Amino acid sequence: NVPGLIDRFGRTANDLRVSLTDFCNLRCTYCMPEMGMEFLKKNQLMSVDEIVRLVRIGVEHLGVDQVRFTGGEPLTRPDLAEIIAGVAALEPRPNIALTTNAIGLDIRAQELVDAGLDRINVSLDSVVSETFEAMSRRPLLHRVLAGLEGAQAAGLDPIKVNAVLQPGVNDHEAPDLLQWCLDRGFELRIIEYMPIDGGKAWNRTSMITAADVHAILSGRFLLTPTAEPRGSAPAETFQVRLREAGPDSEVLGTVGVIASVTQPFCAACTRTRLTAEGRVRTCLFSHEETDLLDLMRGGGSDEDIADRWRAAQWGKQAGHGMNRPDFVQPDRPMSAIGG
Ligand code: GTP
Ligand code: 5AD
Ligand code: SF4
Repeated sequence: NVPGLIDRFGRTANDLRVSLTDFCNLRCTYCMPEMGMEFLKKNQLMSVDEIVRLVRIGVEHLGVDQVRFTGGEPLTRPDLAEIIAGVAALEPRPNIALTTNAIGLDIRAQELVDAGLDRINVSLDSVVSETFEAMSRRPLLHRVLAGLEGAQAAGLDPIKVNAVLQPGVNDHEAPDLLQWCLDRGFELRIIEYMPIDGGKAWNRTSMITAADVHAILSGRFLLTPTAEPRGSAPAETFQVRLREAGPDSEVLGTVGVIASVTQPFCAACTRTRLTAEGRVRTCLFSHEETDLLDLMRGGGSDEDIADRWRAAQWGKQAGHGMNRPDFVQPDRPMSAIGG
């Protein structure tokens, strides 16, 4: 019964997203620029003990009960299993999730599950090698597919697959990508491209919207809203049937649509974030960050750190403001914030 991380708009954050590194082994066009990235140095990143302590403060003092590790690419940290084990030992134990590109998961999935990992979401925009390479600028599709197999073999369930669609690049592949996910029991979620890309190439007129997604998929599939309450989840979910089989046919699985731009879900937001260098970002689109690592390294007590975190969250903005004329894209690309 802790007071929790509340803001001026009546929201309470119980969902903590922790970026473990800003480094990634892919260079997705919608996330990072091709060249000139300067990554944080090791001593700027939080150590295992620092991460576990901050999460513990979140859990014990601030009502955090869900933790998602992101990046950059969290699997590029060799100590990921130690981090997960440290968080899994907290009381009350939070639910532990990972957002990853899955490269290397074939070797590490079992170790991570044994450490306490509950759920994974895998970013995968295409299962066609040429398209994958065009979007990620690396020829590594086979490694992602091996990683997904490893995750499944380790018993992770559900496995969600996140795809960003780009017009003329992979939008036409969406029905095949959905079928591919259905065949394997993965839940595909299609994400609207947001203006938080490293190259600042986002353009409202050239993005695939949720409405476009429905149009693209409905040639082959029938989508009906699922009954589950959405809560604070970014994804709106739909049951999938084959169009030619009709509305009474067997449900093949679920697909999600994350319409951050055209149907913002900020009013129900329950998220707080830590960047890889230990700063609170209360929103993906914040222009401010609040340094907790600095306070911790300077000898701050758990209470001091919790107080600073609470004050930061109180200042959280109402929403991302993307649809306002005065919207300004944050300077930090997605890779440095942690999706
Ligand atoms: P679960 O619903 O718990 O499975 O996870 P999730 O969808 O919150 O996490 P994931 O890391 O898979 O994110 C999927 C997409 O949703 C990514 O493009 C995120 O950037 C986007 N997303 C997650 N949280 C937010 C948010 O607070 N605001 C916005 N605008 N987008 C978000
Ligand atoms: N817009 C929307 N989603 C993005 N992601 C990364 N950059 C963007 C962007 N500019 C997604 C990745 C990953 C998740 C954490 O965020 O595809 O699945
Ligand atoms: Fe929450 Fe900001 Fe995301 Fe909106 S954009 S849902 S306020 S984190």
